[in-house]
Amino acid sequence: MGEILLQIRKLSNFFGMVCTAKELDLDIEAGVLTSIIGPNGAGKSTLINLITGNLPVQSGSILFQGREVTRLPINQRVRLGICRSFQVVNIFPELTVLENILIPTLAMAGRTRRFFSGISREKEAYEQVEALLGKVGLSAVKNSPATALSHGDQRLLEVGVALAVNPRLLFLDEPTAGMNPVERVKVLENIRQLSREGQTTFVLVEHDMDIVFSLSERVVVLHRGDILGDGTPDQIKHNEQVREVYLGDSV
Ligand SMILES: Nc1ncnc2c1ncn2[C@@H]1O[C@H](COP(=O)(O)OP(=O)(O)O)[C@@H](O)[C@H]1O
Ligand SMILES: [Mg+2]
Repeated sequence: MGEILLQIRKLSNFFGMVCTAKELDLDIEAGVLTSIIGPNGAGKSTLINLITGNLPVQSGSILFQGREVTRLPINQRVRLGICRSFQVVNIFPELTVLENILIPTLAMAGRTRRFFSGISREKEAYEQVEALLGKVGLSAVKNSPATALSHGDQRLLEVGVALAVNPRLLFLDEPTAGMNPVERVKVLENIRQLSREGQTTFVLVEHDMDIVFSLSERVVVLHRGDILGDGTPDQIKHNEQVREVYLGDSV
């Protein structure tokens, strides 16, 4: 086992009568590409919101690298290394691709001591941005306004924006939603590659089962606030309960 990055303990969440988390216990291990799946409305996005601080935790606790973050504001969790992308595209449309990534890079650089002088700080930031653009496969369109990108490239840009703050743990909520198959492959290959590099641990919410089973090292199935299954793609594919409730004959 690698380092346990995230420990969720007895986490509960209700929206009125709807329960999306029922005393959930879940550990996320560093370096293990994990997918969270489950029917629509299962509470996958809500779980991410609770972990990142977009929603207040009603009960239970969340530890990140052994430290309690349950009630920390979003920005403090980001600073510790917990980041996310949203289910809908969330970038500055009028700014260029490069500028979209430069903003969080500079914001992050301003907080770290190794950037001592203005000039070297800027130079280093640009170098980081260029490297990141390469990693997410957007170098060729770096000077285009974000709004001019294809939907798939906009999602890649979002991943780039999230990576710019160098997260330890990154949640991607349906990163391939609305993409064509070509874009999908590009995004997934990028995620696979970035995950292998090991700096960032990825947790995906994804409804395309082909993607989930080909990409993930671990699959967690959420259903009515409970974890219905948790294991390797193979274990999940052959889990009777999961098949009954969720997968049906789709695998
Ligand atoms: N902010 C909210 N207020 C009230 N109900 C919500 C809110 N966010 C989500 N829900 C409800 O909680 C359930 C889980 O939603 P969600 O986490 O978005 O599911 P998933 O991402 O698994 O499709 C749904 O019934 C949804 O309508
Ligand atoms: Mg969702």
